[in-house]
Amino acid sequence: MLPILLVFLFSALSQCSRLAEEEEQMLIRHFTKEGEVSTMDQLRDTIGPFRDPLNFSHMNYSTLTDHIHNLHRKFPNLTHIYSAGQSVQGRELWVLVVSRYPIEHRKLIPEFKYVANMHGNEVTGRVFLVSLAHTLLENYNSNLWIRQLVDSTRIHLMPSMNPDGYEHASEGDQAGVTGRQNANGKDLNRNFPSRFPNYFPTSEIQPETIAIMNWTRQIPFALSANLHGGTTLVNYPFDDFPTRTRQSHYAPSPDNALFVRLAYTYARGHERMWKKGPRCLDDDLNISVDPQNGIINGADWYIVSGGMQDWNYLNTNCFEVTVEMNCEKFPQTKKLRYLWEENKYALLKFIDLIHGAIHGLVIDADTGEGIVNATVSIDERAKIVVSYGEGEFWRLANMGKYDLTFDHSDYYPVTQTVHVTPQDRSPYIEVRLQRIIPRSRPVLIPTKSVPNKDEYNVDNSNNKDLRIVTMSSSVCHFSVFMIILSLASLFL
Ligand SMILES: *[C@@H]1O[C@H](CO)[C@@H](O)[C@H](O)[C@H]1NC(C)=O
Ligand SMILES: *[C@@H]1O[C@H](CO)[C@@H](O)[C@H](O)[C@H]1NC(C)=O
Ligand SMILES: *[C@@H]1O[C@H](CO)[C@@H](O)[C@H](O)[C@H]1NC(C)=O
Ligand SMILES: *[C@@H]1O[C@H](CO)[C@@H](O)[C@H](O)[C@H]1NC(C)=O
Ligand SMILES: *[C@@H]1O[C@H](CO)[C@@H](O)[C@H](O)[C@H]1NC(C)=O
Ligand SMILES: *[C@@H]1O[C@H](CO)[C@@H](O)[C@H](O)[C@H]1NC(C)=O
Ligand SMILES: [Zn+2]
Repeated sequence: MLPILLVFLFSALSQCSRLAEEEEQMLIRHFTKEGEVSTMDQLRDTIGPFRDPLNFSHMNYSTLTDHIHNLHRKFPNLTHIYSAGQSVQGRELWVLVVSRYPIEHRKLIPEFKYVANMHGNEVTGRVFLVSLAHTLLENYNSNLWIRQLVDSTRIHLMPSMNPDGYEHASEGDQAGVTGRQNANGKDLNRNFPSRFPNYFPTSEIQPETIAIMNWTRQIPFALSANLHGGTTLVNYPFDDFPTRTRQSHYAPSPDNALFVRLAYTYARGHERMWKKGPRCLDDDLNISVDPQNGIINGADWYIVSGGMQDWNYLNTNCFEVTVEMNCEKFPQTKKLRYLWEENKYALLKFIDLIHGAIHGLVIDADTGEGIVNATVSIDERAKIVVSYGEGEFWRLANMGKYDLTFDHSDYYPVTQTVHVTPQDRSPYIEVRLQRIIPRSRPVLIPTKSVPNKDEYNVDNSNNKDLRIVTMSSSVCHFSVFMIILSLASLFL
């Protein structure tokens, strides 16, 4: 009896992974057909020629601090430096903003972020965010694609989220852990409030984590990537799954189809990340996971509780993925140029994905003023984003037809249909909401009209893939249900 059950258990679990891969494959075919995802060669043509940084070097905290301040002195009108908070040992978590409007949020200019070096010994992203800043700034006047990106986006670059850890890491570390954690010995990518605190209580939240949470809530970021090293792939939410066994488990978010496109856009823009085959060119660094498209659902790889990408997805307006940029955690300086060549188009293109969002303004119908904290929902299950500043909102979306519902406790909800098409990849809409109670007149509060279920539903008729995702994840859930059932029968 027991062996049979075990066989069933493992086949059911591998079934989940297989389904994940089938879903990804199907979605990727769909996005490719739509012309949504570009190869590295296509990006090279689209972006056009630009000058690469002259040299690449690892920089310790004080050198990095000087370097970005020098860069700001050279490009005062296109950059701004601030600190998002301090590390345990008091180092600043520097953020370098590159934008035509660097100093503060500007109406309808979306906010993007890259965070690197969260694990102090994973340093490629740390070097390359500085290289990326150089690239954006030095080519601003000569490359139209780059100029348009910098003019239309506020790009926040945090080269190091764990500057204390970095000071203990050493060049040439291929797969080690020295310097990975912060100065209190905590892994910062396990330190955010957990999705399932009953299963995995969050350890004491660290200053670096608090700073990131505060920062991510202050600024209406719409898109982000967390840059790591150790293999070459992109992983996407969810990282977490409620199980004490920590057996990996496919855990798609309600925005799975969107995340697959975001993740695959990076992988496909990379020289070889998207290919099946060894993740690492160096034999010693092969690891067992080899996703067939270079992307993988976080929990399907291994379960991480308290990770940053899940926290972004569940608590803010921001969609975040985690990029493993290269295999060696702390590559030697001489290897950096080659790694830049592999990653540079993907790094540029990923920022530009922020311009694939339904966006616009939510306005008070009487006063014409922007409404802050109006919710924007795209279907019953998916992430809800909230309006900001002058009533602005951004909602990343795949192509398709959507019913968006705008709601606020003081207003009547409005549902509006929006088409995201190749001709209108980033539709702009203005939505006027009517206040429920005329100010200072005591009237009975009417029961708020609740839109009927259909109004909340995405029209999936031309978005079959979403339905496929839902369907096969329920097959997967069914398998898990069967596992539980069989385990239960074991004890009867
Ligand atoms: C390249 O090297 C020069 C001279 O050492 C230095 O001033 C410059 O900041 C370096 N650039 C980068 C991108 O590291
Ligand atoms: C940081 O690097 C610079 C340049 O390599 C070096 O002079 C300095 O001593 C280093 N600082 C620390 C604290 O290691
Ligand atoms: C920055 O902007 C100011 C005011 O618009 C201008 O006078 C100055 O020349 C600009 N500086 C650079 C380096 O472009
Ligand atoms: C939160 O962010 C705001 C704005 O960036 C800053 O003024 C404040 O000091 C931060 N608070 C903490 C606790 O880091
Ligand atoms: C790494 O992958 C390559 C290609 O699949 C293979 O030839 C090599 O034996 C692998 N190395 C290890 C240590 O698994
Ligand atoms: C919006 O919501 C946030 C978080 O709940 C709150 O701190 C803020 O005061 C609200 N702003 C307005 C204008 O209602
Ligand atoms: Zn890492």
